[in-house]
Amino acid sequence: MEIVSFFVETFKFTVFFFSFFALAAILYRRYFYTEKNKIYAVMKDTGIINKRGKLPKVVDFKVEKGKVEYKLLPPYGISIEDFQNKFDKLEQSLNGEVKLLKEGSFIVLKVNKNPIPDYVEFEYISLPPGEVILGYSRDGPFKLRFSDEYPHMLVGGTTGSGKSVFLRQLIVQLLLSGNVDLYLIDLKFGVEFSVFRNSRYVKEYAENEDDAFRVMLTIKELTYKRFDELKKSNAVNTEEYYMKPVFVIVDEFRNIMENKRLKSLFEELLRICRAVNIHFIIATQRPDKDTVPGSLKANIAMTCAFRTRDAVNSRILLENDRAASIQIPGRFIFQFKDDIEMQSPFLSVERARLLIKDTFVVKREKLSGVLDLANGEGYEDYSLY
Ligand SMILES: Nc1ncnc2c1ncn2[C@@H]1O[C@H](COP(=O)(O)OP(=O)(O)O)[C@@H](O)[C@H]1O
Ligand SMILES: [Mg+2]
Repeated sequence: MEIVSFFVETFKFTVFFFSFFALAAILYRRYFYTEKNKIYAVMKDTGIINKRGKLPKVVDFKVEKGKVEYKLLPPYGISIEDFQNKFDKLEQSLNGEVKLLKEGSFIVLKVNKNPIPDYVEFEYISLPPGEVILGYSRDGPFKLRFSDEYPHMLVGGTTGSGKSVFLRQLIVQLLLSGNVDLYLIDLKFGVEFSVFRNSRYVKEYAENEDDAFRVMLTIKELTYKRFDELKKSNAVNTEEYYMKPVFVIVDEFRNIMENKRLKSLFEELLRICRAVNIHFIIATQRPDKDTVPGSLKANIAMTCAFRTRDAVNSRILLENDRAASIQIPGRFIFQFKDDIEMQSPFLSVERARLLIKDTFVVKREKLSGVLDLANGEGYEDYSLY
């Protein structure tokens, strides 16, 4: 009797044990096989298929925290360019951000399906001077350190797309990190940046073209001084010899591009000052060919494209149409090498004022020092610096 019940129990246990694993295996296969089937279907639909009807083979794939990574072996006649040409379609069908890499004869396709938040309230995260959280991407907060490799930033987007709010929270981050010098140029009657005027880290504040010119002369002088300093210290760059990060932030630089004298000085500065830790962040609501010519883009490595008025403006910023289809205020595409979509946190003027009030000092009304430089006929002599 006892022996029988022993066998029955063992049998029950074995059945339970095996069905548990069988179920787990089925679920596992199901989950992974759908991902695998899906990529085959997507490649077929988007036309990544050779003349004989062969699809790239999924050699391996990984799923982790909303991300899928496929290792593909393309058949004869298919290359990474075929994937790149279908990039937008791939992103749409795979419902996420796509990255493509070449690994020997394999192509690695990464899909990130984690959502980008539609709204983020600004929250200060303490970072070293010159470092900021640029926005919230699919991978969370995106940290950026301005350097020789990441020197200047172009911000474009139509009215109401979120440029000014973006600049505001960026300036607040820079001010709170301390030990930076800021030069603010606000050619729209000086309203956007006026809240920062009395911060001790704001060295100059320009609200018309003459002031802007003086600021640029100051920057030019500083650039050459820093080059001298660098030479004397025998250092190769500011990684070896620390120099305080300096930022020149311009809301609406269109006016600069329309002013011959300002434009040439500005373009010269973009070329030279990056090496001495001086960075330009410039914004425009009309990213057209006149405001953003190729020569300007060539000197600015980073672009933040908010919603543009049309595909033409998007293409001028990104060389693709993506910014034209943005719907959400504060949403932008950051382009350095790849495109990374992000949400800029919201920060009101009132909160910005509260956050930075400890950096306020009493200031003299006039621009100091630089004024003498630009007195009378002095203007034409700026080539001396
Ligand atoms: N990051 C953001 N999150 C939520 N709403 C935003 C954000 N940025 C801007 N907005 C909304 O859009 C409006 C216009 O933003 P603003 O920065 O002034 O645009 P722009 O400078 O591009 O014309 C703001 O008043 C706000 O209501
Ligand atoms: Mg604005």
